Amino acid sequence: MDREMVIVLDFGGQYNQLVARRVRECHVYCEIYSYKTEIEKIRSMHPKGIILTGGPNSCYEPDAPTYSKELFELGIPVLGLCYGAQLMQQILGGKVERAAVREYGKTELLVDTDTALFYGVSPETTCWMSHFDYISKLAPEFSVTAKTANCPVAAAEDAERKLYAIQFHPEVLHTPEGTKMLYNFVCGVCGCAGDWKMDSFVEQSVRSIREKVGGGKVLCALSGGVDSSVAAVLLSKAVGDQLTCVFVDHGLLRKNEGDEVEEVFGPEGNYDLHFIRVNAQQRFYAKLAGVTEPEEKRKIIGEEFIRVFEEEAKKIGAVDYLVQGTIYPDVVESGLGGESAVIKSHHNVGGLPDYVDFKEIIEPLRDLFKDEVRKAGLELGIPNKLVFRQPFPGPGLGIRIIGDVTAEKVRIVQDADAIYREEIAAAGLDQEISQYFAALTNMHSVGVMGDERTYDYAVALRAVRTIDFMTAEAAEIPYEVLNKVMNRIINEVRGVNRVLYDISSKPPGTIEFE
Ligand code: XMP
Repeated sequence: MDREMVIVLDFGGQYNQLVARRVRECHVYCEIYSYKTEIEKIRSMHPKGIILTGGPNSCYEPDAPTYSKELFELGIPVLGLCYGAQLMQQILGGKVERAAVREYGKTELLVDTDTALFYGVSPETTCWMSHFDYISKLAPEFSVTAKTANCPVAAAEDAERKLYAIQFHPEVLHTPEGTKMLYNFVCGVCGCAGDWKMDSFVEQSVRSIREKVGGGKVLCALSGGVDSSVAAVLLSKAVGDQLTCVFVDHGLLRKNEGDEVEEVFGPEGNYDLHFIRVNAQQRFYAKLAGVTEPEEKRKIIGEEFIRVFEEEAKKIGAVDYLVQGTIYPDVVESGLGGESAVIKSHHNVGGLPDYVDFKEIIEPLRDLFKDEVRKAGLELGIPNKLVFRQPFPGPGLGIRIIGDVTAEKVRIVQDADAIYREEIAAAGLDQEISQYFAALTNMHSVGVMGDERTYDYAVALRAVRTIDFMTAEAAEIPYEVLNKVMNRIINEVRGVNRVLYDISSKPPGTIEFE
C-alpha cells in the first residue's frame, strides 16, 4: 500500500511498541525496525520521519548499538528519544556522560513553547524520566528546548536540519502531554497529513485481498476472539462465499460461548458466511482424561484442534488460502520486527496444520495493533460485545482448571466464571480491568453448609491490570464486589465451598494459572 509512514528504529527499549502506537494514534502509519536496518532500505521506504527509541545501553560503550551519521543527512526529520537522543548527540559531535544521580520517575519539565516540538504544550509540564547517562555537551547547531532540575538538556533541537532530541519518554502515559509532542513531530515537523484511518484500511484491504485470492477457496479458523473474528469478517467482505469459517468447540470455552459465537457467525447470524461449528467436546475430554501436567494439556489441546481442523478442511477440499489473525505485536514479539527479545511461546490454536492443501497464508491484520483491530472490527459492523472482549487463551478453560480436566470441572468453572463476569460488569469494572476470570484450583477443603460438613473445591478469582500482558498487577476489586461474587458462587455453583482471590502480580505469577 502506498501511504505516508514514519519509521521507529528500535535500540532495544522497552517502550518501542508504545512509540509506534502513539504515532498511529496521530493517524500516521508507523513501523518498527531494528537499528541494524541498512540505510538503503530506510531510504527506499521513503519515510516522512524517523524516531530512534530508548535502549538499555550507554552509547559511549565500545559495542553499544549505533548508526551511521548518514541517517542524519538524509534530509528526513529525526527524533531521538532517551538513548536515541543521546546517540544522536554523540554522533553529531556532542557528549554523553554518566550522571551523578539517576533521574527516574515523574519529573517537572520546563519547556520552550516557541519550538516546534512543544507547540501548544504547557510551559511547565510533567515528563517521565529513566536514565543514568545525560547529554553533557550539545552537538554543534543544537539548542536546548527543555530542562528539568537535574537535567540541563531534557530536549534539544536543530530546527534547520529538523533534528530533535528528547531525553524523557513522551510515549508513556506518565508524560501527559507526550502524545502532543509526538503529534507535533509527525504532523508539524514531518508534515504528515494523518491519513491512516480504519475506514481506508478496511477498504484497501478488501481490494488487495480480492486481487490476491481471485476465485480461490479460503479457510479461516474462527475462535470467536477479536482477531480471528475481525479477520473472518474482513475476508467475508472481500471474497464472500469463497470463504468457509471453521469454529471448533473444544468444550473448554466460557459458559454459552459456543452458542454466542454461532449466533453471530452462524446461519441465523449477522453475516452471510459458510460457518461450520464442530462440537468436539467429548473428543477433547477423552484425550485430556487423567492428564495433569500443564504443558502436556496445552499440547494435547493444540494438537487435537489441528486434527479436527484438518478433518474439516479435507471435507471442504482444495483450499487455496488459509486465514490467520496474526497482529502486529505478534510479528514484533516473534522477532520479525524490531529488536525486542522473543517473548511469546504460546500460540492461538496450536500452530498451523501442515498438510492442508493451501497455496498461501493470508494475514490481513498483520500491520495492526490490538486497538486498531478493534477499530477495524467496529468499522466492519461487528457487535461491541465481541469487539471489546477480553483475551481468552486458545487452550481455554483447559489451563484454568488445575490438574486433570473433566466435564464436571468444566461446568463448575464455567458457572463460577459467568457469575464473576456478570458482577464485574454490574459494578462497571469490565472496561477498566484488562483481564479477569475464575479458575478452579485442584484443592478440596472442609466447609460447612447448613448443618452439613462439605468437602468441596476452591474457586480462585483473578483480575489484572496490564498494558502489554507481559507484566501485570492484580486489580484492587472493591471488597463488596468480591463478597457478592463469593456469596453467589457458593450458593449457585454446586461443588464449591471456598472462594479465593489471587493477589499475585506477574512476575512472579503469570496471568493464567497454567
Ligand atoms: P500468561 O498466563 O502467560 O498470559 O501471563 C498472558 C496473556 O496470554 C494469554 N494466554 C494465551 N493466549 N494461547 C493464547 O492465545 C495460549 O496458549 C495462552 N496462554 C496465555 C493469557 O490469557 C493472557 O492474556
